[in-house]
Amino acid sequence: MTEKLKILMVSSEMVPYAKEGGLADVVFSLSRELVRQGHDVRVVIPKYLRITAQKHDLTRTLENLDVPMGVIGNMGCAVWEGRTAAPSPIVYFIEHEQFYGREGGLYSNPDGDGHLDNDNRFVFLSRAGIELCKVLGFAPDVFHVHDWHTAAAVIFLDTIYHSDPTVGKSATLLTIHNLQHQGEFYEGLMDVLGIGWEHFNFLGLEKDGNTNLLKGAIYHATLINTVSKSYAREIQTIEFGWELDSVLRERFADLYGILNGVDYEEWNPETDRYIAARYSAESRSGKAVCKIDLQRTFNLSVRDNVPIIGIVTRLVKQKGIDVLAEAIHKLLEYDVQLVILGMGEVWAHFFFGDLPARYPGRFGCFIGYDNALAHKIEAGADFLLMPSMFEPCGLNQLYSLRYGTLPIIRAVGGLNDTVVNLDADTNTGTGFKFYDLTAEALINTVGWALYTYYNQKNVIDGMIARAMAERFTWEVSSKKYVELYKMAIKRRLGEETYLQRFK
Ligand code: ADP
Ligand code: GLC
Repeated sequence: MTEKLKILMVSSEMVPYAKEGGLADVVFSLSRELVRQGHDVRVVIPKYLRITAQKHDLTRTLENLDVPMGVIGNMGCAVWEGRTAAPSPIVYFIEHEQFYGREGGLYSNPDGDGHLDNDNRFVFLSRAGIELCKVLGFAPDVFHVHDWHTAAAVIFLDTIYHSDPTVGKSATLLTIHNLQHQGEFYEGLMDVLGIGWEHFNFLGLEKDGNTNLLKGAIYHATLINTVSKSYAREIQTIEFGWELDSVLRERFADLYGILNGVDYEEWNPETDRYIAARYSAESRSGKAVCKIDLQRTFNLSVRDNVPIIGIVTRLVKQKGIDVLAEAIHKLLEYDVQLVILGMGEVWAHFFFGDLPARYPGRFGCFIGYDNALAHKIEAGADFLLMPSMFEPCGLNQLYSLRYGTLPIIRAVGGLNDTVVNLDADTNTGTGFKFYDLTAEALINTVGWALYTYYNQKNVIDGMIARAMAERFTWEVSSKKYVELYKMAIKRRLGEETYLQRFK
């Protein structure tokens, strides 16, 4: 094995082309950092409607790539390629009008309902990634796939491509960014996969009589990881396991946790182009300017002596927004201002969208997706609230530390691993933690943060200094990925298929 690895990532998202959550940031930053270290990295993503050749400077690589889709037969697609600013991996775009050329989100229609053919859309992407390697003669040392959308690639590689001359020796790494979504579909999807019904069983893709792609990949991947050590442990428990905890426990020896990093070129208060004034740990006066700008942006009363709590999130249950909704009126009994930026579940749009009228000058809300506004909140707020039900890693708290905006978090997953709880006696800590997912715990912990803000300015100043000094770099995390890739490659070269392993 040479030191420079050939890595193929298959993903449903990547910045700057297509993003719904942190997955897009991770694929962009990790692949770029690996290229910087000299590895040959290529990424395969769908050519969604908004990704155009003109806007992204793409060139056509293949007029037609045939992709076998089991009983459906072969389906063709075109392949484009492009790069982001250097250092960049080669990014291949799979163009299939019927699957990816539609309006709405990446996974759902404009009304928010999941596309009915998501099974075929992402099985196709997974298999196109493999077929593309064959046509290009690119033999990856490792295939790195992310979440259920590309999990089928791992299943294919350990079954029908196991002796393939190009990809037959490739190791696989499955990264679980979110275990809740598993790609569970009707049993007949087995015929589209075309890997044989012997894999439709308890120790394979079958779950409750359905075909579950993530479960299959957990069995078939050479190695598995998640995006924090705590989440790697949590998903092996009933509370966080989404009924796959026992499967994950079976593979616990091959399950790792590697924390995400931050793109500090994008998230840096010293250079940030979206914020009203730049500032650093040494000279924080610009943060006060950002606070006034944030108050103006959200029509809040302009006061420097009131703390602002910011929230930037997908408005979904995972993020604890139902508990937040339950707590919100009590929270607003404190002398505090609150701003929310997010989109997601429709009830939440109405619920949070109505609050500015009820609490004029104190509550700000923008329902939608707006990167510039996310930066303004990270810079202008005093605290960032993340009451997540579960959080595999979480990026916003990492950004907020860099901006000296103290996180108030539920102690789960990556939140627990990256925020240190305040201990005023020893003068340690970068944030405020609570443990129970209840409105009461949330209200009490916000109360604790606000009490500290109002009464212990020196404690808050110490926390800000420590928070701003923290670094979660991709340089560190990518090296851990390389170690994992190398372990997977070694394992694969001396190994048999999953089924043989259990004979
Ligand atoms: P998740 O991937 O579960 O949504 P993360 O914290 O890992 O959570 O990543 C969320 C990413 O999406 C961050 O980069 C955050 O700034 C961004 N984000 C989320 N919601 C919005 C929004 N409404 N507008 C702008 N950026 C958003
Ligand atoms: C998922 C998780 C989030 C994580 C992101 C990137 O969307 O919900 O916690 O940071 O993936 O790994």
